[in-house]
Amino acid sequence: MESYKGKVAVITGAASGIGRALADRCVKEGMKVVLADVEEVALQNAERELRAKGAGVLAVLTDVSKESDVQALARQTVDAYGAVHLLFNNAGVGSGALLWTSTVADWQWVMSVNLWGPIHAIRAFVPIMLEQQTECHIVNTASRAGLETGPGLGIYRMTKHALVSMSETLSHELKMIQSSIGVSVLCPGFVRTQICDAHRNRPTELSGPNDREMPSPMDIQLDQMMRKAVSNGMTPEEVADITFAAIQNRQFYILPDPEAKQAVQVRLEDILNDRNPSFLIPAAFN
Ligand SMILES: NC(=O)c1ccc[n+]([C@@H]2O[C@H](COP(=O)([O-])OP(=O)(O)OC[C@H]3O[C@@H](n4cnc5c(N)ncnc54)[C@H](O)[C@@H]3O)[C@@H](O)[C@H]2O)c1
Repeated sequence: MESYKGKVAVITGAASGIGRALADRCVKEGMKVVLADVEEVALQNAERELRAKGAGVLAVLTDVSKESDVQALARQTVDAYGAVHLLFNNAGVGSGALLWTSTVADWQWVMSVNLWGPIHAIRAFVPIMLEQQTECHIVNTASRAGLETGPGLGIYRMTKHALVSMSETLSHELKMIQSSIGVSVLCPGFVRTQICDAHRNRPTELSGPNDREMPSPMDIQLDQMMRKAVSNGMTPEEVADITFAAIQNRQFYILPDPEAKQAVQVRLEDILNDRNPSFLIPAAFN
């Protein structure tokens, strides 16, 4: 984008982790920010802290899995600031069970946030951006897990692979109609956030541990490995900086973790050489 100053950014999952770091970076660039999150107290704190820095901030309590909430988010953005230039579809959750021990509620919860969230946002915001006819950019936060294969986090992996595909199609379609909207898909490796405690925002109607028997030893081991890898991961601020550099270059694939490229290569070689799926064990697990 030519310049960010005075422009408007909408960030889902803005109250914590990567979303919060993206919001900080937008404010540093002189943008007005719309913070969308389902966690009310964290959202209020983020709004207060950013306002104290003199930023134009609108906080909208939003459950991205609900179409009506995302449509209301788009309306409130336009009512408050008259436009939207940057959209970060960033809210996401994970569930760690093995595929056959995951409950229907596990599937519904993770798919509703990680897949239906971006679907609702694309439907709500792209028409507004097209009408504006100004330079805009959409960043969908997928994951390294959306590019590689491996055991565990199966529902999460599937949603992130789908989000990579959705982003690729969106990019092709917006180019096909010669729009001024750029698209990127952010695929981080491990990042020091609260992702391992995503269940804190799980709705009671899709309640978790009670509708599953005790987690298996394998589930517990996977959870421990994830927590260790995340606590040793990149900082959200590093990811935000890499993301802004990519927006500037209109770069589509954003892979902050160099190891992710190796994993992509192994996967593509498996496919091209008729090999069964390999698992490149992330170094952060050791
Ligand atoms: N942390 C990592 O290692 C990592 C790696 C790759 C990708 N990601 C992705 O990064 C994104 C951000 O996650 P994070 O790591 O910052 O975790 P986080 O838990 O710190 O932040 C996620 C935010 O999303 C919000 N959220 C959850 N459900 C929501 C809903 N239904 N509606 C609106 N907001 C909701 C949470 O309240 C939270 O503020 C996610 O899409 C995640 O999958 C994270």
